[in-house]
Formats: sequence, structure tokens, C-alpha cells
Amino acid sequence: MPVLTSTLDPRSQSYLDNRAAMLDRLGELDSAVQQSRGGGGEKYVTRHHARGKLLARERVELLVDRDSPFLELSPVAAWGTDYPVGASVVTGIGIVEDTPCVIVANDPTVRGGAVNPFSLRKTQRAGEIARVNRLPMINLVESGGADLPTQAEIFIPGGAAFKDLTRLSAARIPTIAVVFGNATAGGAYVPGMSDYTIFVRDRAKVFLAGPPLVKMATGEEADDESLGGAVLHGVHSGLADYIAEDERDALRVARGCVRRFGRPSAGGTRGGAEPKFDGDDLLAIASADLRVPFDPREILARVLDGSEFDEFKPAYGTALCTGWGAIHGHPVGVLANARGVLFSAEAQKAAQFIQLANASGTPLLFLQNTTGYMVGSDYERGGIIKHGALMINAVANSRVPHLTVNIGASYGAGNYGMCGRAYDPRFLFTWPNAKSAVMGPAQLAGVLSIVARQAAEAKGQVYDEEQDASMRAMVEYKIEQESAALFLSGRLYDDGVIDPRDTRTILGMCLALVEDKPDHDPQPAAFGVFRM
Ligand code: COA
Repeated sequence: MPVLTSTLDPRSQSYLDNRAAMLDRLGELDSAVQQSRGGGGEKYVTRHHARGKLLARERVELLVDRDSPFLELSPVAAWGTDYPVGASVVTGIGIVEDTPCVIVANDPTVRGGAVNPFSLRKTQRAGEIARVNRLPMINLVESGGADLPTQAEIFIPGGAAFKDLTRLSAARIPTIAVVFGNATAGGAYVPGMSDYTIFVRDRAKVFLAGPPLVKMATGEEADDESLGGAVLHGVHSGLADYIAEDERDALRVARGCVRRFGRPSAGGTRGGAEPKFDGDDLLAIASADLRVPFDPREILARVLDGSEFDEFKPAYGTALCTGWGAIHGHPVGVLANARGVLFSAEAQKAAQFIQLANASGTPLLFLQNTTGYMVGSDYERGGIIKHGALMINAVANSRVPHLTVNIGASYGAGNYGMCGRAYDPRFLFTWPNAKSAVMGPAQLAGVLSIVARQAAEAKGQVYDEEQDASMRAMVEYKIEQESAALFLSGRLYDDGVIDPRDTRTILGMCLALVEDKPDHDPQPAAFGVFRM
């Protein structure tokens, strides 16, 4: 296979500038991740430990195989909102007894582990990953249930969590609940809906209503243990399949359950030759100024096995680079924006390439750096809408697994054509420098200004230029903030912001997870009617 070359010059000013800008963004990401890791803060962490309990991440660490990787998802969920960063829950994919599993661990140090709207989105996304990739689901439960002040936003949609759990079971995807503490009211249905339940002695408290509510409702006096302790459920109600002696024992029992699933190992990485160029350069390829295009082949040269890339139609539709390669031994077809804008030829090339990947059952990787489809009367006449629709049709109906990484810009319908979140890629990650919005901040402010100016003219009013300038500045600032990677990740529009240097490892893990399980859909891709 042809091997990519590189023209990157580590001494050039652009290399140094790009690297410095990326390191700044990584610093911001790191502090957001630290906030998430800090849970509810020192006071609650200390209190939790003093009670002889493990933290959410400590539970995860003891559950997964020693020295195995844990792919944490959306660690900065709820960033930039009124809720604590991390959204009071840890989710991710870990290897348990050689089996990749989706793990969801409530963080009881954050408002008692109560579920707020962002925790709900984060756990629902974890459930979706378990479903589409057919991965066992392990819930490490200790939660005060619904975040009561925001119950109106979560009570009704939150019911889907229990439906989704039992549907996993119905699809023969095993589910395990390990209960370490409180699981009240709706929370009680997490073990209730799971295939296997493990309750920690003297710690698990699983009841429809706690002692105060029971007292109010029926006048009965009961304590936690007699209402919903591990013994009550292990000996009498039958809700607990196993009574564990302590937290470590519970995690050991959970590992035993997974061992009996008898699932073949996902194989993890299959090796694959290392790229020929230094992965550290991935910090310096994306332009600090996103308006400056950069060559995605420089990235592929540092991500693909042996830097080998068999480019498809290299001379046609050159603003989109397409071709075949492998990551850690897993074959992949790549679509990467090479110059911001997508034209008709690029859209047609993409649709053909996606059809080829479906014909050979090869997963697709989308590297997004696009400002969208080309606008203007020449392009409208040339059919840019129908060609964009052709590409979006192909992406939407493709049946092979898709992975998406936003490495720069993802604007307008280019976000859809390049398999943005709404197009259900199996995993979507964002580089810290990346941005996404309906259009760029300056363009959006400019459009609003033109519309306001026209409205004023139609009414025969004099347009207030001073007000216009301040409106534009305000709008630009707001859109700039709302386009940023941390903002988008905070709202669960991706599965996490990643260090560019980890791109190859993370994509290799994801490809290992998605392979051999092509949606469990025997149907070949059935595309919508193509407009040619
Ligand atoms: N919604 C919102 N905030 C909650 C909450 C909930 N469901 N559960 C706990 N919190 C808050 C507490 O008010 C407290 O806040 P503060 O420290 O600012 O005062 C913080 O989380 C820690 O709670 P605390 O009670 O001190 O922790 P704990 O570890 O001793 O007990 C629980 C945790 C979950 C057992 C206990 O808080 C509780 O019983 N909560 C209510 C559970 C419930 O009935 N939920 C109904 C679900 S439908």
C-alpha cells in the first residue's frame, strides 16, 4: 500500500504556533477533567472515604482488568452549565475478564449521586453504546435518585433508563447492577431491571420509599435495613442475587458474572505497524487559526498503520480526501476534509466511497474540518443542494460502523454530511481546538446584521450603526463560546474531547469494539433515492 509522506517542519513558525495554541486548549481541558475527577469536592470525598466507601473511579478501577485501558466517555459533561462538571456519574468502556463492558458508576460525592438532566443524557448515551455495540452493561449504583429541584426535566424522560435496561436484556446483552448504597424510588428499578444484582451487606438501601416517606404514607416505622437492606433483598424479596460482604467482594462477584457470559474477547488491538511519523506532531498540525486549511494526510500519516494510505480518487473532488488504511490492524475507510468547503464533486465522491465501504463491510472514519457546502448562484445552478443531499443520504443510510473525529471545524450541513452527532456515529470525539455551529461567529453575526438592516429599511427607519456594531460583537462572542469543544462536550454533543496524541489509540479501541458486530443487521445498506 502507498505510504504517506510528510512536509511538516517542526522548526516552522506555524508548527510552533499551532502547537502552542493546542497546548493552551489542552490545559483548559485538563482543568475541566480535574474538576470532574474531584467529584463533589474535598469535603464530600473525605466524608465518603471516612465511611469506608470507595469513590466511583476507585470502584471502576477495581472492576476492570489490571492495567487494562478504560475509555472514559464525556468526562466534562455539564461543563459550562449550572451542574457540576462530570454530571455526577462516570461512564466508559472497560475490559472486565477480557470482555469490553460499558460501565456506569454514580458519583455519590456529588449531591448524593442524584441524577440531573446531564447525568441522564450521559447515562442514556452509555446505554446506547452498549446497545449498538452489543457490550454488557455494568451499573455501579449509589444515587439519591432524581435531582429533586430539577425533577420536572428528568422525571418523565428518565423513565426510559429502565426501559432501555430491560431492552438490553431482551436483546441478550447482559446487564449487571452492583448496589453500594442508596437506590431509592426510580433508582430501585436499576437492580430491578438488571439480569444480575449484587448488593453490599449493610450498605445497599433499595426501596421504593425511604423510612420518612413510608412513615408519612402509612404510618409504619421502619429502618433502612428492614425496608431495603442487602439481607432483606437477598433472603426475603429475592431482588438481590448475591449478598457481597463488602465493596471489593461485590466487584469480585461482578467479575465472576462477566466471566460466565462466555463472550469471546473483543481482541483489543491487533497490532498493526506503528506509523512512520511521530505522534507528538499531532499537536501541531491543526491550524491555530481555523480559517487556515491544513492537510489531513499529515494526521493520517501519524494515525494509520505504517502510515499506509490507499487514496481513492486523489485527483477528483480534492477538497475531500478519501481512502483506505488500517488502525491497529483494523481496516478502515477514511473521509477527511482537505480544504474547508465541500463542492458537488466532493459530495459525489463521498457517496461513491461510502457505497464501496458498504459493499466491502469496512468501517468508516470521518475527520471533520469543514465550513459546509459551497454557497453561491454558480453552485446552486450546479446542484450543490442535490449533491449535498446525495452525500447526506449515503451517510444516513450506510450500515457499516462510523467513527467521527472533529479535528477542526464542523459547520453547517457539512456537519451532517461528515457524520455529525445526529447521524449516529458509533463514537464521536472532538479535538480541543475544534469548533462546531450552524456557521462561523462572524458570518452568523453578519447575517443577523443584514436581516436587521433590511427590516429597518423596509420600515423606512434609519439603521443604528452603533447598535449594530455592539450587537455584532455580542453575537460573535456568544457564538464563539457556544462553538467551543468544551461547551459542546458539556452538552453531550460528543463522547469526549481527546488529546490529539491519543487519536490512534482511541480509534483502535473503538474499531475493535465495533468490528464483527455490523449493527447485527443482516440487511445490506438500502440507500434512499439518490438525486444524481
Ligand atoms: N436531589 C437533590 N439533592 C440531593 C438529593 C436529591 N435526590 N439527594 C441528596 N442531595 C443533596 C443533599 O441535599 C446534600 O446537599 P448539601 O450537602 O448541599 O446539603 C448533598 O446532596 C449530600 O447529601 P447527604 O444527605 O448529606 O448525603 P448522604 O451521603 O448522607 O446521603 C442520600 C445520600 C442519597 C442517601 C440522601 O441524601 C437521601 O436520602 N436523599 C434523598 C433520596 C430520595 O429520596 N430520592 C428520591 C428519588 S425519586
